[in-house]
Amino acid sequence: MSNYDIKLTVNGEKIKKTTQSHYRLLDFLREDLDLTGTKEGCGAGECGTCSVFINGKLVKSCLVPVAKVDGAKIDTVEGLGNPEKMSELQKAFCATGASQCGFCIPGMVMAATSTLRNNPKANLEQIKEEMGGNICRCTGYQKIFDAVEMARDVINKEKPEKVFDEYEKPKNSFIGANVKRIDAPSKVTGRLKYAADMKMPNMLHMQVLRSDRPHAKILNLDLSKAKKFEGVRGIVTCQDVPGIDNFGVFIEDQPVLAKDKVRYVGEAIVAVAADTVEQARDAINAIKIKYKDLPALYDPEESLKDKIILHEHYKTNLVKHIPIRKGNTKEALEKADIIIEDEFSTQPVEHAYLEPMAGVSYVDQDGVLTIVSPSQNITHHRHMMAKIMNLPIHKVRFIMSPVGGGFGGKEDMIYQGMLALLATKTRHPIKYVMTREEDIVSTAKRHPSRTKYKMGLTKEGRILAAEISMLADGGAYGCSTEGVMRKAAILGAGPYNIENLKMDTRGVYTNNTPSGAFRSFGALQTEFATESMLDIAAEKLQIDPFEIRRINAFVKGNFTHTKQELNSASINTVLNELETLSKWEQGSPHSRGNSRKDTFSEDNRDACELGARLKTNGNGKRVTK
Ligand code: FES
Ligand code: FES
Repeated sequence: MSNYDIKLTVNGEKIKKTTQSHYRLLDFLREDLDLTGTKEGCGAGECGTCSVFINGKLVKSCLVPVAKVDGAKIDTVEGLGNPEKMSELQKAFCATGASQCGFCIPGMVMAATSTLRNNPKANLEQIKEEMGGNICRCTGYQKIFDAVEMARDVINKEKPEKVFDEYEKPKNSFIGANVKRIDAPSKVTGRLKYAADMKMPNMLHMQVLRSDRPHAKILNLDLSKAKKFEGVRGIVTCQDVPGIDNFGVFIEDQPVLAKDKVRYVGEAIVAVAADTVEQARDAINAIKIKYKDLPALYDPEESLKDKIILHEHYKTNLVKHIPIRKGNTKEALEKADIIIEDEFSTQPVEHAYLEPMAGVSYVDQDGVLTIVSPSQNITHHRHMMAKIMNLPIHKVRFIMSPVGGGFGGKEDMIYQGMLALLATKTRHPIKYVMTREEDIVSTAKRHPSRTKYKMGLTKEGRILAAEISMLADGGAYGCSTEGVMRKAAILGAGPYNIENLKMDTRGVYTNNTPSGAFRSFGALQTEFATESMLDIAAEKLQIDPFEIRRINAFVKGNFTHTKQELNSASINTVLNELETLSKWEQGSPHSRGNSRKDTFSEDNRDACELGARLKTNGNGKRVTK
């Protein structure tokens, strides 16, 4: 790595600095100038979180080598305003509630600023088009577009400035009230510090060697070369774990670093701390591993047969089976007018939070091991960490940094154990920031599933019985599989009063990426099957799909199949609203496609076309970009 002398103007200030020749503009801003409002969401020009102005033009700074901006004028989100003196756009982002997790927001504010600078009267379509290079995972974009339109109208004097301050004082409840988010100003001005933005004196950087095998014995691990690399201050393997090296939210089966064998591609084996990320990465690349490949399991059905056992001490690949029985499905099915049987499968889903996994760990002056990370489950993580590090609980502290989107993905503990080992071993603060690729490869996903379904109904559409059997791929480690199976079993039959129900949910180990918590926790996979069955039944019985749901919906006073008495039931209110808002064409679903008026009427949206960005030309015709 060589040095590079650079002169440029950043946010109006002339800067002369020696930087690293391999740095991107993004690195220079974040590492050399501490301008951490410019975020790294993907490092590949896809998300827009790193947006800045170079000589007035909006650019993704992760794609620009720093040497290319010598002499240029750079503007970052910090230059647009600060929490005390925000720009119109920043105020509008606060006013509409456009900043949720906030990680995309500095980039969004930059893109919105560029849009209105280039076209102060931009209409909604033009705003969408101009901001199409920036991704938000939380907002659904509506509030962001509302904010840009609000700022546009204030700038053009079509609305008074007081629209930025029209918050409500909640009376009895905050729910439904337009209240001021207290962290919005720090988010829209790029001042909020996420874990990757944090710096500490003498901080080291961690990198991780991960398995490229799905299932293999580790025969030999040669660290000798890596230890000699310049800047390397500490290396840890499973040998360095002082306490119980098995953790997990429900089942304690996961080592901090692979022990004897690896069970999925992406599993951590060695962690290195060095003065710089690059030094740690070089050391990782110098580690030699000898593997003996083992037969692997990728299919949960195969896994259930237990011919290969992935966690030898458990004697089975079954992580959790939740059986629930209500009434007598066999007898009820015999009385049914129709019986429908089908199978449904769902795929693994990446959480795609915009903030990649990151954390900082240190041992403080009182010997308290401290982990700062966007963990969604810090109390549980703290207890797990105390066992791993063999420390009393009061010697372990977790600090939850702002979560740049989680969606359940930051609920299982993933990398914090490695940070703790290196902080303890080196007595330096340690920082780790995953690349987007590393995050996708190594972190837990939504459980892929297969659901077998049998439903018996009367000809009037009343469900008499349902038999549901879900098999979920838990991947290599238990993570949240047990909790997901519980929720799938409790919620999977949907908001319907089914007198006779046989429900089985099973999660199994495979050599796939571990599955974990994800919004709706297993209910989504099974409810998708239930709702699909009701649509099929509606079609067969020639009943309106809303109607068949109303016939079976829970009402106040019903008991769920897990014996919970319902003191309220809002499903019918929801159905009524949906029916009105969607302009549903009542009747049984016998006609499909263009003949259905409700799905193709004038003010309804056409179906999405994936992979294409569409805009209209002057004649209102659509053209693909
Ligand atoms: S576009 Fe630069 S970090 Fe995503
Ligand atoms: S607010 Fe946009 S990614 Fe969270």
